[in-house]
Amino acid sequence: MVLITPSGNYFAIIFSLFLVLPLSVYGQANGDGTVLEVGASLSASDNSRPWLSPSGDFAFGFRQLQNQTDLFLLSIWYAKIPDKTIVWYANDGQPVIRGSKLNLTADTGLLLTGPRDEQLWKPSESVSGVISNGVMSDDGNFELQGSNSDVLWETFKDPKDTLLPAQTMNRGGVVSSRQSQTNYSVGRFRLSLKQDGDLQLYTVNLPTENPNKAYYASKTTADQSNSSSAGVQLVFNQSGAIYVLRENDERSILKQAEPVSMRDYYFRLTLDYDGMLTQYAHPKNSTANSTWTPLWSVPDDICREASVDSGLGVCGYNSICTLKEDKRPTCSCPKGYSPLDRIDIYGDCQPDFPQGCAEDELTSTPAKDLYDVVVLINTDWPSSDYTMLKPFTAEKCNETCFKDCMCAVAIFRDGTCWKKKLPLSNGRVDASLNSQAFIKVRKGNFTPQLPPFPFPNKKKDQDTVIRVGAVLLGSSVLVNFVLLAAICTGFLFIYHRKHQSTPIHKLQTNLNCFTYQQLEEATDGFKEVLGKGAFGIVYKGVLRIGESGVAVSVAVKKLNCVVEDSEREFKNEVNVIGQTHHKNLVRLLGYCDEGHNRLLVYEFLSNGTLASFLFGDVKPSWNQRIEIAIGIARGLLYLHEECSSQIIHCDIKPQNIILDEYDNPRISDFGLSKLLMMDQSQTYTAIRGTKGYVASEWFRNMPITAKVDVYSFGVVLLEIICCRRSVDVENVSGEEKGILTDWAFDCYQGGALDVLMNSDEVLENRTKLEAFVMVALWCIQENPCLRPTMRKVVHMLEGVVEVPVPPCPSPYSTTTITIPSQKIN
Ligand SMILES: *[C@@H]1O[C@H](CO)[C@@H](O)[C@H](O)[C@H]1NC(C)=O
Ligand SMILES: *[C@@H]1O[C@H](CO)[C@@H](O)[C@H](O)[C@H]1NC(C)=O
Ligand SMILES: *[C@@H]1O[C@H](CO)[C@@H](O)[C@H](O)[C@H]1NC(C)=O
Ligand SMILES: *[C@@H]1O[C@H](CO)[C@@H](O)[C@H](O)[C@H]1NC(C)=O
Ligand SMILES: *[C@@H]1O[C@H](CO)[C@@H](O)[C@H](O)[C@H]1NC(C)=O
Ligand SMILES: *[C@@H]1O[C@H](CO)[C@@H](O)[C@H](O)[C@H]1NC(C)=O
Ligand SMILES: *[C@@H]1O[C@H](CO)[C@@H](O)[C@H](O)[C@H]1NC(C)=O
Ligand SMILES: *[C@@H]1O[C@H](CO)[C@@H](O)[C@H](O)[C@H]1NC(C)=O
Repeated sequence: MVLITPSGNYFAIIFSLFLVLPLSVYGQANGDGTVLEVGASLSASDNSRPWLSPSGDFAFGFRQLQNQTDLFLLSIWYAKIPDKTIVWYANDGQPVIRGSKLNLTADTGLLLTGPRDEQLWKPSESVSGVISNGVMSDDGNFELQGSNSDVLWETFKDPKDTLLPAQTMNRGGVVSSRQSQTNYSVGRFRLSLKQDGDLQLYTVNLPTENPNKAYYASKTTADQSNSSSAGVQLVFNQSGAIYVLRENDERSILKQAEPVSMRDYYFRLTLDYDGMLTQYAHPKNSTANSTWTPLWSVPDDICREASVDSGLGVCGYNSICTLKEDKRPTCSCPKGYSPLDRIDIYGDCQPDFPQGCAEDELTSTPAKDLYDVVVLINTDWPSSDYTMLKPFTAEKCNETCFKDCMCAVAIFRDGTCWKKKLPLSNGRVDASLNSQAFIKVRKGNFTPQLPPFPFPNKKKDQDTVIRVGAVLLGSSVLVNFVLLAAICTGFLFIYHRKHQSTPIHKLQTNLNCFTYQQLEEATDGFKEVLGKGAFGIVYKGVLRIGESGVAVSVAVKKLNCVVEDSEREFKNEVNVIGQTHHKNLVRLLGYCDEGHNRLLVYEFLSNGTLASFLFGDVKPSWNQRIEIAIGIARGLLYLHEECSSQIIHCDIKPQNIILDEYDNPRISDFGLSKLLMMDQSQTYTAIRGTKGYVASEWFRNMPITAKVDVYSFGVVLLEIICCRRSVDVENVSGEEKGILTDWAFDCYQGGALDVLMNSDEVLENRTKLEAFVMVALWCIQENPCLRPTMRKVVHMLEGVVEVPVPPCPSPYSTTTITIPSQKIN
């Protein structure tokens, strides 16, 4: 069928399009990949179908970015799991706009073009040879093949921030972190197999690529003394092991993960944007709520190891790195400093106030009335000092910095005093430092718009500023500040690293502040009571929130017994609560703070409490109970380890867990204990919590730690498994069943798990039930040290790690402890 007339040609093209399109769009599956022929294309639009691997595990195509309807990232992602994790991206991580196209061509292989056909990207190493096919494989690799199936280019040889099983990296290969959770541009962390065979993690000072000192090394170089040979390749093998292969075929395993089956789990090795190299696992049979679980990560203390002399560590300038319990870093600004970019906690902090010699001089008040000193224990910024004084005393150290207009912070340790100037870098908290930091913070409120004053470190510049300042002294202070701000802006260009145009000071959270009257109206005069809790009464209401003014249902909690004069405390705590964002926590929308009227405004959740769900007439299914238990555990894990400052709940019970419209469990009432003037880290002054759920520490004058929540969670987990209350003497016949925690252990020991479950449902798989009971028994151990962390609990519930056999929860008789019979608050 060869048509040669012009119109015939048309027909031929259209005809062949019909023939080729279905083949190239859906591809053909050969043994290990979906084959796409030259001419195949994809376009960045809402309904664009990606190229799927034969099993459907991986997809290659345009991914719409979250919340950005017109931006698409050309990438490869896990297509079957809910969060569709991206493992590779083209175009240096830059998204493209709607209407952009990707063509599979014979010469460049892949060609990414914009809506007006402008060329945007092609595979970096120019592909040598004529391409005939693209192949998307089940292991997540996309290959460009020549006519006899020789591989001319593949994404496995062009890694971004992630390596996958079956992927290898030779000497010289580099993996780069991305900028942030949502920005795929290259960040400052690198993983590379060096030419000498050593696998290293290091930072670079962008935009250059010069490596700083390594913060992790596999130590796989050649070593004559013990005749070990050099590493040649980083291997992530098909069963999930990750090792450096040496010249003599020996393997140096990076870190032994707890064995997890490759059949049931996806694996990836990712250099995260916080600098940690982490191996993750994700169940293949995932429910909508499963997530990636870290199996291991390196290094052990990134705050310390990644600290470099001339560049940034993990956190931005003037920021402080703290290691969380899961060994991951988090960054925070010292008091008096705020993040430049509220979204990016790893970014820079800057003072909320002007500081510098010229600035101090312009103010008529003597220096001693200008500043307060904030003391931080065991915090240091190891570089940035301009003077060392020795021997010295802590008092004199504070004093000398206080009087020195150049000094921003003084560090005192072992009789030595270091005076430091801005910007401070590589800040970290470390108990072994044994140091004191004296931070100068300006008194009073400062106009947030005023940029920080970077003090001139050359005498000449300083003179200029002072002279200009002197001319201005006649006019009002306010005008001076405005003009000064203009001068500062000039310096900012010279001294400041980035963000010249970002608004300088942002509010701590986007919480709404309501008046009492607003809330009174919203609740129709506090009419409908939703519940009564330890902290006050909760009312239903309707409020218009935000610019759109959409009416939303809210739950308004009127706090009682809040100490009145702790205004700052209240704002702080509310801010801490407002900064929590997790799908298993109830969201705080706003608050009211008018004298003794203190109210918190939460989102309203429609499906009632877990208590009514579990102890009602219709019992939830076993699968629902599994999801609920894991959800609560994840929420608690977030409170304990993942939010900016640790929150111990102290009152976990089914009445404090609310179900949303999808029956997701959400923890409420967290972060409130400080409002009641509780000192959480010390021994208690008054017992918080509810009978049946409180750990024995409360009665024993022991320190209260996050482990009290683990205990309460264990009790709640048993209640979820058994669908009955923990203390229920009336409804359960036989005294031995009265106390659920004791009875559960007896049943477990006696192998009578089905008795526990209290439902007619027939379980085909009893191992999950057994595992859940065992986890609960670990959580309710009387000795808090024996209780696992919530992270471990989540791992065990998800089945990522095995649950060891639990000992008896209360080896000592507990009869000596008198438990108050009332609800204790
Ligand atoms: C996307 O929008 C939702 C709701 O507006 C918001 O909660 C979420 O944080 C946004 N995500 C990103 C990555 O901006
Ligand atoms: C890419 O493919 C599309 C659809 O097949 C076609 O319209 C476009 O001209 C091609 N672009 C290039 C640069 O080959
Ligand atoms: C990501 O960050 C880089 C560097 O800060 C910036 O240039 C780029 O515009 C950002 N990309 C997106 C999509 O926000
Ligand atoms: C060989 O030397 C390296 C570096 O000193 C050391 O890490 C490694 O443990 C040694 N191996 C043996 C088998 O002694
Ligand atoms: C992967 O490496 C580990 C550790 O050397 C080994 O036990 C396992 O058999 C390897 N798996 C495959 C599929 O090669
Ligand atoms: C995953 O699902 C398949 C079929 O639905 C089942 O055969 C397999 O046992 C499940 N695996 C796990 C770990 O639950
Ligand atoms: C530091 O010195 C200042 C000025 O003398 C003083 O007001 C402040 O109380 C001192 N702070 C500490 C912690 O010593
Ligand atoms: C898990 O997600 C599904 C779908 O979003 C939802 O129906 C289910 O209730 C969730 N379960 C839990 C426990 O979060």
